[in-house]
Amino acid sequence: MSAACGAQATPPSLARFLPAVDAATQARHETLDAIELHGVRRSFSIDGRELVALDDVSLRVPQGSLLCVVGPNGSGKSTLLRILAGLIPAGAGSVIVNGTAVTGPDPRVGLVFQEPRLLPWRTVMDNVTLPLALAGWSEQQRVERGTQLIGQLGLDGFERAYPAQLSGGLAQRAGIARALAMEPDVLLMDEPFSALDALTRDHLDEWLLSLWQRTQSTIVLVTHSIGEAVFLADRVVVLSARPGHVVADIEVDIPRPRSIRDAAAATFTHAAMRVREALEAGSEPLGDAA
Ligand SMILES: Nc1ncnc2c1ncn2[C@@H]1O[C@H](COP(=O)(O)OP(=O)(O)O)[C@@H](O)[C@H]1O
Ligand SMILES: [Mg+2]
Repeated sequence: MSAACGAQATPPSLARFLPAVDAATQARHETLDAIELHGVRRSFSIDGRELVALDDVSLRVPQGSLLCVVGPNGSGKSTLLRILAGLIPAGAGSVIVNGTAVTGPDPRVGLVFQEPRLLPWRTVMDNVTLPLALAGWSEQQRVERGTQLIGQLGLDGFERAYPAQLSGGLAQRAGIARALAMEPDVLLMDEPFSALDALTRDHLDEWLLSLWQRTQSTIVLVTHSIGEAVFLADRVVVLSARPGHVVADIEVDIPRPRSIRDAAAATFTHAAMRVREALEAGSEPLGDAA
């Protein structure tokens, strides 16, 4: 977002009207990465056999950017998010989020799954504020923050509803509200809208962009949809078939703000074509090196 504005040199005649930003601060803002992965590898042991899910994944995600990850089934996308969220360790390589090595779950990192995973016996308000309860917030603080989140996510009127009474789109928004409860700087989303109908998904994609623009958080979103990836992302990273590694890292230069009309057009953009080509290339068997 910021790099685009800073790219052009300011004419000398205008420079004196601009606030002085010291060079070190500017450089920090331009280079700070929310996520840095170097040589990440992760394998699982199945019946005594080692199955390599991710191999030599290196990736940088600048603060405040929106990165989409696409890749064939089993290419390690969910594994990658789980490593970033501190739910499982990497087998090798380094994983740095917000400047520190990941050693476990961190409240500054939110995770949204494909299905909302709400507790059926708790109301929307109690589901959304669950992380706050676990963190020891008082009831008054929880209700205050919960009401704010429910408003932000357009769930007003559903505070006392139970998950079974919600449509798929509303339930997923409640799941997102819960992930946002602790105001994470980094939001990880694993195919968050893929179980929803196309129209609801389009609306939630637009809504996600407005939320992202308001909160300035860093988002890493896994999707199967090239159109969705290109519509949402600053960059799209394509993983190969297992073992997943980065086969392409494609910048999306569609100007913002983007609308859902752009989403349809986005399917035909240069960026989308490149994502498709990389996916096709990465989906082919990589030989029997394993
Ligand atoms: N807990 C686990 N135990 C064993 N194998 C796993 C586990 N989690 C993932 N895998 C395997 O790792 C590979 C990558 O899985 P996953 O990250 O879920 O891929 P994706 O999300 O891209 O579909 C798959 O072959 C999967 O079966
Ligand atoms: Mg997955």
